[in-house]
Amino acid sequence: LSHIGFDAKLINQQPNNIPIEFIWPDKEKPSIDVKELHVPIIDISSFLSGQDNQILESQASRLVSEAAKIHGFFIVTNHGIHEGILSRAYKCMDMFFNLPASEKQKVKREWGEISGYSDSFVGRFYSELPWKETLSFRFSAEEKLKNGTETVKDYISRSMGDLNQELGSVFQEYAEVMNTLSLKIMEFLGISLGIDRRYFREFYEDNDSILRLNYYPPCKQPNLTLGTGPHNDPTSLTILDQDQVGGLQVFVENQWRSIAPKPRSFVINIGDTFMALTNGIYKSCLHRAVVNSERERKSIAFFLCPEKDKVVKPPKKLLEAFGQRVYPNFTWSMFLEFTQKQYRSDKNT
Ligand code: SIN
Ligand code: FE2
Repeated sequence: LSHIGFDAKLINQQPNNIPIEFIWPDKEKPSIDVKELHVPIIDISSFLSGQDNQILESQASRLVSEAAKIHGFFIVTNHGIHEGILSRAYKCMDMFFNLPASEKQKVKREWGEISGYSDSFVGRFYSELPWKETLSFRFSAEEKLKNGTETVKDYISRSMGDLNQELGSVFQEYAEVMNTLSLKIMEFLGISLGIDRRYFREFYEDNDSILRLNYYPPCKQPNLTLGTGPHNDPTSLTILDQDQVGGLQVFVENQWRSIAPKPRSFVINIGDTFMALTNGIYKSCLHRAVVNSERERKSIAFFLCPEKDKVVKPPKKLLEAFGQRVYPNFTWSMFLEFTQKQYRSDKNT
């Protein structure tokens, strides 16, 4: 069974059950009756245009603050990202994921690397495989690029050649607009915590982030498996564009709840690193994605992360709530290495 590429088309042609490696333990299998979780929906247009609309701003920041203290999920609308860049990104995703498995394997993501293609190959050490394929890119903000880090576009042209020139410019642009939006949301989160709005923005300006494309093929037995297993994002802030199929679920008050797709909006959630930067005031919450038997599902996640050697340390004002530090100092590169090792040992037992 070792190293059979996860080729959804081939797997779906098989008449019988899904391979055993994709079957999750009973306690993790998708729940039947999942209620919707209503998270705050924040129209950020006046905030983005710099209009001084303090009433709206304080209402919105209160809503976000309340949600962030419980589960860290909210939705933004009127975010100013053009429909065109999103549709180009989905078109390029189709182009890539429809390539033969052998072509996709050429850009396989190696252990410890950020960029590249991952499938769930069936190997002798693996179980609880997620029903998905991903393509990820490392993105460094402009400040960081001054040190000569590779751009998304350079990575794509180096690793995928001429075949994928279009992908290079599309995903470069997509990551850049997400970078800009994430810094704006950081300002907003600063306001919602009552600290200087520039504080988090400046902390993340030289970010070392990740762009990830998730492709979930339809599955004959969706009740036995998961598209993405339960996890907390180790990163700082996630901006997720999910298509209209649905499948994202969040674990709140001991129950799995769904976040229904909403056109022209992004789902934002807080990751572990930002939770630490707020001294544990804002929460990073367990979530997962389920699949279905009818339709493929796609999502695109931008994970904002600090510059890798910057020390994550909350501002003084945020120490007041608990009277002390809740997490020790760490850097994103230390934390990333830790999460990768942990994943490896989980999966190798
Ligand atoms: C993830 O949280 O990693 C995936 C979320 C999604 O595809 O909805
Ligand atoms: Fe996630």
